[in-house]
Amino acid sequence: MSRVYNFGAGPAALPQTVIERARDELLEWRDARMSVMEMSHRGAHFGEIAKDAESRLRRLLSIPESYKVLFLQGGAQLQFSAVPLNLLRGKDRADYVDTGQWSSKAIAEARRYCEVNVCASAKDGGYFRIPAESLWEKDAKAAYLHYTPNETIGGVEFQHLPDSGPVPLVGDMSSNILSRPIPVDRFGLIYAGAQKNIGIAGLTVVIVREDLIGTAKETTPSMLDYKVQADAGSMANTAPTFAWYMAGLIFEWIDAQGGLAGMEKRNGVKAKTLYDAIDDSDFYSNPVDPTCRSRMNVPFTLASPELDGDFLKQARAAGLEGLKGHRSVGGMRASIYNAMPLEGVKALVAFMKDFEERRG
Ligand SMILES: Cc1ncc(COP(=O)(O)O)c(C=O)c1O
Repeated sequence: MSRVYNFGAGPAALPQTVIERARDELLEWRDARMSVMEMSHRGAHFGEIAKDAESRLRRLLSIPESYKVLFLQGGAQLQFSAVPLNLLRGKDRADYVDTGQWSSKAIAEARRYCEVNVCASAKDGGYFRIPAESLWEKDAKAAYLHYTPNETIGGVEFQHLPDSGPVPLVGDMSSNILSRPIPVDRFGLIYAGAQKNIGIAGLTVVIVREDLIGTAKETTPSMLDYKVQADAGSMANTAPTFAWYMAGLIFEWIDAQGGLAGMEKRNGVKAKTLYDAIDDSDFYSNPVDPTCRSRMNVPFTLASPELDGDFLKQARAAGLEGLKGHRSVGGMRASIYNAMPLEGVKALVAFMKDFEERRG
């Protein structure tokens, strides 16, 4: 049996070589004579794994010394609460940019803790474009400005970095972290669930400027207090050890592919291949403004939704999985994260052309 091309949005495809490496090390990790899954998070062997992963991530993203890197449980959505709890720092308001379903969810959660100023929203236009930054109504008194660099469901991605001035910028980078170089020093905080570009589910990475932590709201659960976790090396509670180990293997793999510059190049070619195929056809379409189309998640529709079922069934038979669009949007969505090879995208495009010829 051969592996399919998995276009799922997350948990998502992993590089085959990384899975093979994990398989080879599964029973006994180096001289530990036990599996990573069995190790104490406080033992020397896991300590080595943890430190190695963090330093690899620091190198890949050029994370300054003045930032803490946390490897946490709870998923990206727990950060929707952790961010206001930690970063309000005595203030009562925060700016949020609403570009789709994930930013809307972050907004709804933040409203439990503070006054949210939605400084820009693309809701009225159906979330197909990012509002021009010149029109954003930012609040100089905001504790931070939160945005979602890549909307996984809508397939909308920022191609520039918002300018939040002295207000700390916070990015939910769950679905595009490590897909290209980013200037971490322009952010107050970055968070990302691991199950797309970092590795497997169960781990959430938080990168936070040190001076922003230490003043969490009094009622913050201790395990959500960044200072508590930073002081404990992310081990205030039992760390997600296997997911952390897998992240280290992924960071090593990215390095071997030419780092983030290599990823950017590879992702650019993949996205262009797929969008060109969609744009060159009258049968497929993508509703997103071309200036902010995501290079990670590509939603597209067929000429008639009645063909969706056949498309998915035949795609599956051709070894192309996970193409069903999000339940709220319908149609298709191809997630083409770092681990998706160009060959996978080419196989999808060939299938799409063939399907169009037969059914279009
Ligand atoms: C941009 C973004 N934010 C948040 C989440 C939620 O992540 P989790 O399921 O880890 O809470 C997702 C998941 O797909 C996402 O794509």
